[in-house]
Amino acid sequence: MKFSYDHAGVPWSKVERAAQVLTSEHERLLDVIRSESCDDPRCFAWLPEDESEVKAVKQVIRDLSINSHPPSVLVVIGIGGSNLGALAVFDAVFGKLANQRPGARPQVFFADTVDGGNIGDIVRIVDANLKAKKRVLVNVVSKSGSTMESVATLGVLWNLLRKRLGREADKHVVATTDEGSVLDKLAGEERWQVLRVPKRVGGRFSVFSVVGLFPLAVAGVDIGALLSGARFMLRQCTRKDVLQNPALVSAAILHHQMASKGIHDLFFFDTDLESLGKWYRQLFAESLGKQGKGMTPTVSIGTTDLHSMGQLYLGGPRDRFTTFVTVEKESRDLVVPPGVADELVPGLSGKSFCRLRSAVAESVMAVYRKKGLPFAHAALQRHDAHELGQFLQWKMLEMVYLASLMGVNAFDQPNVEEYKNIARRLLSQK
Ligand code: PA5
Repeated sequence: MKFSYDHAGVPWSKVERAAQVLTSEHERLLDVIRSESCDDPRCFAWLPEDESEVKAVKQVIRDLSINSHPPSVLVVIGIGGSNLGALAVFDAVFGKLANQRPGARPQVFFADTVDGGNIGDIVRIVDANLKAKKRVLVNVVSKSGSTMESVATLGVLWNLLRKRLGREADKHVVATTDEGSVLDKLAGEERWQVLRVPKRVGGRFSVFSVVGLFPLAVAGVDIGALLSGARFMLRQCTRKDVLQNPALVSAAILHHQMASKGIHDLFFFDTDLESLGKWYRQLFAESLGKQGKGMTPTVSIGTTDLHSMGQLYLGGPRDRFTTFVTVEKESRDLVVPPGVADELVPGLSGKSFCRLRSAVAESVMAVYRKKGLPFAHAALQRHDAHELGQFLQWKMLEMVYLASLMGVNAFDQPNVEEYKNIARRLLSQK
């Protein structure tokens, strides 16, 4: 990955001052990493070094003979931090239309809502596969084990598996949860395979644990490359020299911009990175939005959203800081052929779609520069697992530094309990 902060609108002296303020946070992070244990929520950063997560994933894959008998369908049940990381990497590596590509195996569905229509469609696909004697695997991911949305979908799919497979159904469920949770206990009773989430790792920081690694490995993502990207970025983002530490720099810039801007727009020039934007949106919103502080994270997709939001971004209130994310090389590229395209827009033929997209991205950044709209730019080389591992680690470490500058706890979410308690009360009424 490459970074550019030249137009972020923050004097370098401010970045250096923020780095000094972060000295003790930086030391604490280094201590957690050196301790090679998971007694502090910051230990998410060390997970890519910890072979036990990969070992646990490989063991379940072996126990269920997934390599010799891969599933046709994988359903990942989970919400928020329990599925957004896996979804982000899956979409980025295979594309948002992966399930529709002929011969795609397995098809992967992310069940993350209580929407009868959407979940009903997944259930019908699962049922059709079971009737056709194809293998289906359900991975229910819930750290607490009691998230209403995930439990409701698990209930429906477990009944279906039992109806179609009888006593064999238990070989089709893997539960990823905290040791001792209600789900852990149920999994023991039903004889499902269990993967345990490291206790101190919170949902939105858990993509490098079994939470993200198991479904991604089953889906065919190179998790070794994902983790080696994360290890590479950990080395960068724990450097003392601020110039060499991208998480420290981006945290300092965002903290400075937060004083005058209410929105942080993550603007991807790549359709398949939209879910990555949603992963970051949750990380940013849940980690920082507390005590009346924070910025609203938004996700934009180029070139699509320029035709709906571009006017507002360029001519509306100057209330946002933007991080553009581009991808330099596209493995699935197309070239515009000679013929109708040239008749309508001269000069198009012979250009690759990747070139067209980057020309638009360059033009948008040029206008932002001209108008003095502040932005940073991160360029991924490709959207493969190694680059994704870097991006995810960069952003999670940015969050640790940024929360520290803001004086908030990045690892809790005290206010979301309020609506959950009311919903529980409502649902407990007959
Ligand atoms: O990041 C978080 O902590 C949350 O988004 C949780 O992951 C989400 O609420 C799901 O919780 P659980 O994993 O307990 O089902």
